[in-house]
Amino acid sequence: MADAREVGYDAQEHTGLVNTILAETKLKPYNIFRHADLRGKKIVDIGCGDGELCRTSVARGAQYAMGIDGKQDMIDIASSLNSQYEGKVEFRQGFIEDLSGDETFDVAILSYLLNNAKDFKQLTQQCRSTVSFLKPGGMAVIFNNNPFDVLGGDFTKYGFRKTLTGLRDGDPIIYDYRPAINSDIINYYLSPEKHEAAFQIAGFSEFAWKPIQSYPGADPVFWHDYFNRGNLPVIGILGRK
Ligand SMILES: C[S@@+](CC[C@H](N)C(=O)[O-])C[C@H]1O[C@@H](n2cnc3c(N)ncnc32)[C@H](O)[C@@H]1O
Repeated sequence: MADAREVGYDAQEHTGLVNTILAETKLKPYNIFRHADLRGKKIVDIGCGDGELCRTSVARGAQYAMGIDGKQDMIDIASSLNSQYEGKVEFRQGFIEDLSGDETFDVAILSYLLNNAKDFKQLTQQCRSTVSFLKPGGMAVIFNNNPFDVLGGDFTKYGFRKTLTGLRDGDPIIYDYRPAINSDIINYYLSPEKHEAAFQIAGFSEFAWKPIQSYPGADPVFWHDYFNRGNLPVIGILGRK
């Protein structure tokens, strides 16, 4: 029987999506990689999906990247795309809550990982496991659903629609990427305060929200509606061990 933490959407559809829409191919990587110089660094990418951020990390000078994902289909796709990166990028299947690292990584990347936590306990355990992979002083770069956004909205122009079903801890947040992904992507609401508390309990010494910025070369006319709101659908977080 599948683990209840396994995401329900199709791995092949997900790969197709992250390699097509600008929110994924440009906005996301810019708002992850602008926070860290990866040259010579050891990276762990938790919730790596098809491994694109591992490959980009190495292309940006990282010495090594390890991708971890709970869904075997994601690991299979990531492995099939890895021929140019043998020895530099490796993948392993596992749910982050169950893993314990060896404190040797400089940077942890968590892109759309923490928003899968259904409650505070799970969020805290995800953060605690992340800390176990990092060296003292190591950094976690997070790209995530934005818990300050309590409205959601129709972002069809950018490839998706976001619907909040409530603002209690654990209430589902529905991301609809149809027609690219033919099932909903479900995240779970946990307040900003719960995020800050989870990082602290897990052993991070620093925590900072990092609002999303537009990327160099972005078309301001195309992105006007996206950025013209109080809180954007996604947000960054930096954590320092
Ligand atoms: C929306 S995808 C993002 C993939 C990739 N990080 C990206 O930005 O393209 C979220 C990924 O997190 C993985 N995931 C969700 N919960 C997880 C957990 N508890 N442990 C490990 N991986 C998890 C899913 O299987 C999925 O591949």
